[in-house]
Amino acid sequence: MSARQTVLDQLFFGRDPLKDFPAGKFATDLQGWHSQHPYLTRAIEEARPKIVVEVGVWKGASVVTMAKAIRERNLDAVVIAIDTWLGSSEHYLWEKFIPDLDFEFGYPRLYHKFAANICNEGLREQVVPLPLDSINGFQLLKAKTIRPDVLHIDAGHDYLSVMADLKAWWPQLKDGGILIGDDYFKKPLIGQGKWPEVRQAFDEFFAATPHTKFESGDGKCYVGKP
Ligand SMILES: C[S@@+](CC[C@H](N)C(=O)[O-])C[C@H]1O[C@@H](n2cnc3c(N)ncnc32)[C@H](O)[C@@H]1O
Repeated sequence: MSARQTVLDQLFFGRDPLKDFPAGKFATDLQGWHSQHPYLTRAIEEARPKIVVEVGVWKGASVVTMAKAIRERNLDAVVIAIDTWLGSSEHYLWEKFIPDLDFEFGYPRLYHKFAANICNEGLREQVVPLPLDSINGFQLLKAKTIRPDVLHIDAGHDYLSVMADLKAWWPQLKDGGILIGDDYFKKPLIGQGKWPEVRQAFDEFFAATPHTKFESGDGKCYVGKP
């Protein structure tokens, strides 16, 4: 049985959430940030994973990068894409994101854009969406003993959210696995602190947590688990 079907059996009692999705009704819209970062493909190449988890998905651009890397290598692997698809606080702070959330009677339809992108890119067989918040997603995967080989954290960007994600998800990452963190800027330009709370949470967490490597560049960090 494929890795994806195993995950569908575990998380959705065999049902496929993307089956029959009317992707043709939506144009592909792969808006994202650092979504083609080389760390994403490097992790797939190095870990040769069965299970990849992304926490914080938006329209799926970084999921697409990892799912394509899986497909190109013909790996039996799946990306579990975890998001509420309701946006983060900054998407409500800045008016420019309101059209992206695509509200219908006050409730976002962002998930539809994600699902369409995955289907339009022909990546349905590499992706399973899980519409939960980070901590509930973690609790579900823990209960089902699903442990990622590769983990990409890109959900809330405030200290409390990032620290909560690290405390929950790092123990769930398989031994020898790889964690990629988004919006980690080691040296922000003076006066333009880019997501300083992301950096603060990562630096504090890994000052006290054993790891085999910690690299960073172009807005992401790459951490190895012993
Ligand atoms: C910066 S976007 C992700 C971008 C995406 N990884 C990419 O590269 O295109 C952040 C996403 O995190 C989600 N998010 C924020 N807090 C979350 C939480 N606690 N649990 C699940 N998703 C969350 C938001 O809904 C949003 O879609």
